[in-house]
Amino acid sequence: MPDTAHNSELRIVPTIRDWWRAEVVKSGHFQASLKFAATIFEFLRDSTPSRRRSRYGDMDFDWDRRVDTTGATVSHRDRLFGMFHSPYQPTEPSLFHEMMEALAGDFHLDFSQFVFIDIGSGKGRALLLAADYPFKRIIGVELLPALHRMAEENIAKYQSESQKCFAIESVCADAREFSFPAEPMLLYLFNPLPETALRQMLANLESSLLEHPRPACVLYHNPLLEQVLADSSFLKKIGGTHQYAIYLS
Ligand SMILES: C[S@@+](CC[C@H](N)C(=O)[O-])C[C@H]1O[C@@H](n2cnc3c(N)ncnc32)[C@H](O)[C@@H]1O
Repeated sequence: MPDTAHNSELRIVPTIRDWWRAEVVKSGHFQASLKFAATIFEFLRDSTPSRRRSRYGDMDFDWDRRVDTTGATVSHRDRLFGMFHSPYQPTEPSLFHEMMEALAGDFHLDFSQFVFIDIGSGKGRALLLAADYPFKRIIGVELLPALHRMAEENIAKYQSESQKCFAIESVCADAREFSFPAEPMLLYLFNPLPETALRQMLANLESSLLEHPRPACVLYHNPLLEQVLADSSFLKKIGGTHQYAIYLS
C-alpha cells in the first residue's frame, strides 16, 4: 500500500516521494524535475488573489442548495495535495444532467439497477447531482479526509424536491484500493487520478468483474487520459462527445 493511502491524515512528504518515483519511472529524472518545478509554479500561481477569486465562479449550485461544494474554499494544504494527485474541481451541474440524459436516452441505462460510484468524489457535488436519479445507491470515494468530511456534511444537509436516491455515502479511501461492490455499477470519473493510478484502479475493476461478472458502465467526464481506457481490453467505448466518453464492460 502506498504511504499516501492512510485515511486518517495524509502527509505531504510521502505524497511527493510517491509522485516523484512514479514520474521518474515514467519519464526519467530530468523530465520529472521539470514537471516538479512546473507543478510548484502552478500551485503558486493558483494561490494568487485573482486566481482564488475566480474559483468562486462555481458557487451557483451551492447558493441554490445551501451546501459547500466549491473549489474556492479548499485549503492551501489540500490544494497542494491536489497538485500531486489531482486537484479538486466540482462537476458543472448542467453538463452532469446532459451526461445522465445521454445514458438514459441514447443508451437506455436503467439507473434503478445500478450503483453510482464517483471515483474521487471531493466535497460530494456529483453525489448530490446523482441523487436526482433513481440509483440503487450512491457511493463517493475520496482520498483527502477534509474533502470527505465536507462531503458527509453536504450529504447530511442536502434537500431537494427532485431527489430520487437517498442512500448516499462518502468513503474516505484511496481509489487504487477500493473494493467495488458486487452489483451493477456506473462509475463516474472526473479526472480523479493520474495515469499510473488510473491504470491500477482499472486493473482492480477488471479483477472484480472477473470475480463477480456484472454490468459496469464508465462515464468519463473530461477524458484527458482516454488512451488508458482505450488500452483496457475489458471496456468498450459506446459513445460520448469531446466533453465525455462512455464505456461498457
Ligand atoms: C476533479 S475532482 C472531482 C470531484 C467530483 N468527482 C465532482 O465531480 O464534483 C478529483 C478528485 O479526486 C480526488 N482524488 C485524487 N486522487 C485520488 C485517489 N487516489 N483516490 C480517491 N480520490 C482521489 C481529489 O482529491 C479530488 O477531490
